[in-house]
Parts: sequence; structure tokens; C-alpha cells
Amino acid sequence: MRLAGKVALVTGAARRRGIGREIVTCLAEEGADVVINDVGAEDEALELVEQVGALGRRAIWHQADVSERDAVDEMFRRTAGTLGVPDIVCSNAGVASWQPFLDITDDAWRQVVDVNVIGAFNVSQAAARMLIAAGRPGRIVFTSSVHVQMPFAQMAVYGASKSAIRALADVAAIELAPHGITVNHVGPGWVKSHINDASPALQTEDDVRNTLALIPLGRPADPREVGRAVTFLVSEDGDYITGEFLRVDGGFVVGKH
Ligand SMILES: NC(=O)c1ccc[n+]([C@@H]2O[C@H](COP(=O)([O-])OP(=O)(O)OC[C@H]3O[C@@H](n4cnc5c(N)ncnc54)[C@H](O)[C@@H]3O)[C@@H](O)[C@H]2O)c1
Repeated sequence: MRLAGKVALVTGAARRRGIGREIVTCLAEEGADVVINDVGAEDEALELVEQVGALGRRAIWHQADVSERDAVDEMFRRTAGTLGVPDIVCSNAGVASWQPFLDITDDAWRQVVDVNVIGAFNVSQAAARMLIAAGRPGRIVFTSSVHVQMPFAQMAVYGASKSAIRALADVAAIELAPHGITVNHVGPGWVKSHINDASPALQTEDDVRNTLALIPLGRPADPREVGRAVTFLVSEDGDYITGEFLRVDGGFVVGKH
């Protein structure tokens, strides 16, 4: 029970096959009460609230679009007023888009940047402001991606958005350190979640074989394996870790480069 007495907020956490859901479960198993955020998937979110309750922890479902500043501020106010000021904030919500560079549309660019960059900024700034106002230390963890280090064709927009998260995390780590707030990001490789259902690299059996051949551990990650890495960073074990990028990729990056 490394997180007993802690309050956590996880964005993009409702979907059954999602990373966020497993972050919630791992944090709750370690004793944290949890706010489950997502833009939709209410049925799945309410099921997760019940699962967290069965672990003996409190959970609330808060539907909000992280790209909307007012909605994010309202979510933090509600969190503080119910479970308490969140000690742990996981900015995990994200969307992907696959388009050849020459065909990238304004709509795709805006949608990805709105959620992945503006959303991550809204959530992390709201978290830091609330923690500092309360005089409390805290942990912020973004879900970025191996694409921070590994360019993939058709993923310019997604890669750019995740590289922006890296820059945000690095600078926030410096500026928030004096307040006792650590800021890190985890980089999943291939995780079997909804986001990859549309990936052109995973449509046929041959595609899957070719992608697996790039991963030294020879398999995609279970979302829970990302949840466990996040738990490590926000637990006491991560006390002296800030500004770090922790890949959870089965060796994808070292295998490819
Ligand atoms: N699956 C992978 O292989 C992989 C690899 C690297 C990084 N990631 C990152 O992991 C994170 C989680 O993705 P996932 O793989 O679990 O996919 P997912 O699609 O299951 O989860 C993403 C969640 O974010 C939610 N979301 C989207 N827009 C939102 C918004 N505006 N406000 C609030 N929530 C919103 C979605 O509803 C969904 O539940 C994302 O940031 C993604 O970019 C995933």
C-alpha cells in the first residue's frame, strides 16, 4: 500500500482496453483514491468506479474534455471538494492520427494538438497551481510515447505532439522542483489499446508480424505494465526522479535504432 492516503486524478481513463484504466487500477491497488476522467465512455467509467470501490478505495467519475481549460479547472475544483487536492496527476488522455506528411489536414493537426498538447498543458498547469496554493508536494506524470525518440512515417503530427509533452515535462520539472513536485513522462511503445485499432502498421497479420519483429521482447505491452511504471514514479521509489522519460516499450527504441 505505497499510496495509502493519496488522491490521484487520471485523464483518459475510462476505456476498457486503455492505459488510463490500468493506471487507475494500479494506483487504487496501492491505496489511492482516484478521479477517473474521460471525454466519453460513461458506462465503462462507472464500471471502473465500482471496481475501485471493490478495492476499498473511493473513486469518482468526471467527464470533461481536457482541451477545454474551464472544464479542466472545474474538474480540479470538484476533486479538491470531494476527495481532496490531488497528490498525483496523470495526464494520459491522447488521440492519434496517421497521415502522410503531404496529406496532413488542418483538422487532424488541430484535433491532435488540442488533446495531446493543450490538454496536457491544461491538466498539468491546473495540478501544479492547486498543489502550490495548498503548499503540498505532488507528482505529475504524462503519458508521452516512444515517438518522442523514434520517428515513424505517417506519424508527424502525433510525434510532434508527444515531443511537445517532453518539452513541457522537462521545463515543468525544473520550475516545480522547488515546490516538491516531480514531473516525469512514460513512453509506451505498442500497447494493445483502442488507439492502435486504426494504425496502418497493424492491419494485417503480416503487419503485426513485422511490427513484433521490431520489438526485442517480441510482444506488445499489456496496459497494466504502463500502469505499474507510473505507480513506480509516483510512489516513494520515485522520490528522487524528476524530468525523466521512462520508456515502457519492450526494447522497441533500442531495437529499431
Ligand atoms: N497504445 C499505444 O500503443 C500507445 C503508445 C504510446 C503512447 N500512447 C498514449 O497512451 C495514452 C493512452 O492511450 P491508450 O493507448 O490507452 O488509448 P485509448 O484510446 O484507449 O485511450 C485514450 C483515452 O483518452 C480519451 N480522450 C481522448 N480525447 C480526450 C479528451 N479531449 N479529454 C479527455 N479524454 C480524452 C479517450 O476517450 C480514451 O479513453 C495516450 O496519450 C496515447 O497517446 C499509447
